[in-house]
Parts: sequence; structure tokens; C-alpha cells
Amino acid sequence: MTAPRLARRLRPGTVRARVTIVAGLALTAAVTLGIVVMYLLQVDSARRTVDSQLHTYATQIEQSASTAGTFPNPLPASSLDASAEAQVLADDGSVLAATRTLTGLPAVYSLPPGSDTPVRQKAADGVVAGEVATYGEHLTVGGRPVSIVTTSPTTTRSQINETFARLLLIGLPALLVLAGGTIWLVVGRALRPVEQIRRTVTDITDISAADLTRRVPEPGTDDEVGRLAETMNAMLARLDDAAARQRRFVADASHELRSPLTAIRTGLEVGLAHPEQAPWPTIAERAVRQAARLEELISELLQLARVDAGKAAARRRRVSLAELLTEVEAGTTSSGPVRMELDIPADLAVAGDAAELSRVFRNVIDNALRHARTTVRVTARGHGDTVRVTVGDDGPGIPAEERERVFDRFVRLDAGRTHGAGSTGLGLAIAKAIVVAHEGSIGIDTAPEGGALVFITLRGFGETAILR
Ligand SMILES: Nc1ncnc2c1ncn2[C@@H]1O[C@H](COP(=O)(O)OP(=O)(O)OP(=O)(O)O)[C@@H](O)[C@H]1O
Ligand SMILES: [Mg+2]
Repeated sequence: MTAPRLARRLRPGTVRARVTIVAGLALTAAVTLGIVVMYLLQVDSARRTVDSQLHTYATQIEQSASTAGTFPNPLPASSLDASAEAQVLADDGSVLAATRTLTGLPAVYSLPPGSDTPVRQKAADGVVAGEVATYGEHLTVGGRPVSIVTTSPTTTRSQINETFARLLLIGLPALLVLAGGTIWLVVGRALRPVEQIRRTVTDITDISAADLTRRVPEPGTDDEVGRLAETMNAMLARLDDAAARQRRFVADASHELRSPLTAIRTGLEVGLAHPEQAPWPTIAERAVRQAARLEELISELLQLARVDAGKAAARRRRVSLAELLTEVEAGTTSSGPVRMELDIPADLAVAGDAAELSRVFRNVIDNALRHARTTVRVTARGHGDTVRVTVGDDGPGIPAEERERVFDRFVRLDAGRTHGAGSTGLGLAIAKAIVVAHEGSIGIDTAPEGGALVFITLRGFGETAILR
């Protein structure tokens, strides 16, 4: 097994366990470091205290000497440290005076000339046990060189050791268990909503039905988990909305497709009931008209599917508006006396897919021609780096409250009127989808002539638009 795989296998499976272990290790390291630093400081301070006490003791002994240079024997005990011992040595190493315990013994420490570090002697073996702090001092008393050696068993050091050993062996594990338990509980509680969110989302298996109305529980906190739940729910709401729209669209489309089929079928059935007398040419003519309508409807649905799939503005090239709109004009069959006026600067161009944009203008101009009384006016102007095209007519116009809705699929305001017959209500929906895919916008206003004014804003191509 490779090292990373081994590491992965050994890694605890839950965030909760990982956080607890990592926090526990970090805490152990920090607390242990703290204890070690405290220990070193304590030991250092204890050593300083003992050293200064031994120093003071030596001074005390020095001051106890008579003016003639004789020391009291036994020497007085240290006023600061009852367990301290001392010897006063002559130049030749013989003992001049000693504390009570050391009375009668040869020198237990000697003090080499020029040094203040006493050297342990054989005589110490029986008397001085364990670790001992020592201090030595050369001086001249009553005209005679002597040395004073003071010693003290370092019991404080072992006391400190014991205290810290207890801290490390009992305090640290207890602290760790307490901290680890707390972290485990707190992290578990913080992550519980995440598990609930996961379970709810796992349960949503059927994304086209009632499952999408479910929402994950929101913990109601303004933290990462709370925001995750909110985001999840917002996403579920959007999915729910999209699914509902999709269902409505399928239902509408089916309904629209059914009407011409029913008309064809009824016509044929009526004819077949009396085959000899049936007006077959008329029935066939009607069937052809309905079939053409079906064909158009299906091609519009396919067009919508293409735009929905994001293919509308995949290829963007320079499209000359004058050329495009002249082509669209040539392709329209204006019924009756309606005139069409184009006012497009020759050099105005937009960035987009010519075929798709031509579809947009065909749909809008078709509508205008269908509703206008006498004139449809198409203009285009550059504004900064955008181009605005307007299609105005002198028809009945579109009421302000319907100007958003007419862009929805299958919405027809004049379905009952004669000139609305044969329309599907997809024209503006397709136009809007294509314009949006081109990062443009489309809206409706009132034309100066009183009819509807559809305006379309698109991105200009290169500098042609900016120049105007
Ligand atoms: N220039 C206009 N003047 C008045 N009403 C309009 C105009 N353009 C569109 N409308 C209204 O908006 C509705 C929606 O238009 P849209 O182009 O989407 O559908 P349609 O023309 O009815 O059908 P389709 O274009 O699919 O054949 C129309 O039915 C019509 O009532
Ligand atoms: Mg239309």
C-alpha cells in the first residue's frame, strides 16, 4: 500500500472525528509546551533562590568570625535554610569550623584557589546524599586566608519535579478528555443540520414531481450551515419552479398540437360518414391548412428547444442591420394596404447569429404587420456600444399590463379575433429567448403613431456602433 493510500485509510471518516483529533493534538502540544516552559522557569527560580540563600549564609558565617579571625564552632545554622550545612577551611584544607552535623569530619568539599565551585571530597560520601547545591567563597579573616563552603540538599527541585509530573500524568489527560469531549459534542451539534440536509436531499429522488416541493430543514443560524440550508432551499425552489414551468409548457404544447389534429380528424370523419356527398376538395384544403399550422407549430417548438439548449448565440459574427432587415422585409407578405418603412443607417452592425436575429425581426415585424392599420416603421440607431432597433405600428397597441406577459409562451391577446387565428403565441417568446442569448434586451412601449412599439437592444459590432 502506498503512503498516501495508507494515510487515507487511517484518516477518520467524519469531519467530527478529524476536528476532535486535530484539536486534541494541537491542545496537547500547546499545553505540554506550556508545562515544560513553566517547569524550566520554576527550576531556574528555585536554583536562584538556593544560590542566593547559600551566598547569604556564607556572608552570615563571615560576619560571625571574631576580629581575631576565629569562627564559632559549631557554626550557627543558616537563618534562611535550616537544612544548609557549612565548613570553614584553612589554606591547607584543614577544617577550622563546621555546622553541627559535620563536626569532627574532614573537609567534605574543597575549594580550589581562584574558584568559587567547591569540589566534592571522599569524606562527603557518608554524609552528603542526593543532589546538593554548593557555594564557595575565598576570603581573608584576621589576616588569614580561609574559604567558606556552604551546601544545601536541593529538595525543592524534587518537589517541583513531583508537582509537574503530577500535572503531566493526571492534569493533562483529564484536560484532554474534557476538551476532546466538549469539541466532539460542539462539532456534532454544529454538523447535525448538515446530516439532516444530506438526508433530505438524498430522499429527493424524483426531480420531476412532488419531491421538489420538499425543503431542507433550516437551522435558523446565520453561519455556514444556515447559509448552506438557505442556498439549498433556494435551489430547490428554482428547480421546483423550472419543473412546474416545464410541465405547463408540455401541457400547453400538447393542447396546441391537438387542436389542428382534431380539426383534421373531424373533417375526415364527417366526410367518411357520407363519402359520396362529401366536399372532398374543401376537406382536403382544410386538412392541408391545419397540417401547415402543425408544421409551423412544431418548427417553433424546435426553435424554442434550440434556444433553450443555449445554441442560439453560439456563433457571433458581424451582421449588417440594413441588409438583414431588407431581407426580412422582402420575406414578409404584408396583407392589404399596410406599408413598411425602413430607416436603418447602412453602416450599422451588431454582433450575432444572422439566422437567429433574422428570426427575431421576422417575428416582431410579422406581429406589427398583422396589427397595423397603414404603416409599420422600423428604425435602428447606435447608442454607445449598443444598437437599438424599434418596430412601431399604428395598430391597437398592447395594454401596459400585458407588456410583460406577451413574452410568455403560448400567450395570445387577440386569439378570438380574426387576424389572430392561426397564431401560436410563441413568436415573442422565441424572439426574447434569442435576444437574451445575445445578451440583449427586448421590451414594449407605445409607438408615436399610437400602436405597439417593440424595442430591441443588441450589442454593436466593433466600432460601427460607437461612432454614432
Ligand atoms: N404589434 C402588436 N400590436 C398589438 N398586439 C400585439 C402586437 N404584437 C404582439 N401582440 C400581441 O401579443 C401576442 C403574442 O405575440 P406572439 O408573437 O408571441 O404570438 P402570436 O403572434 O399570437 O403567435 P405567433 O407569433 O407564434 O404566430 C399576440 O397574440 C398579440 O395579441
Ligand atoms: Mg407573432
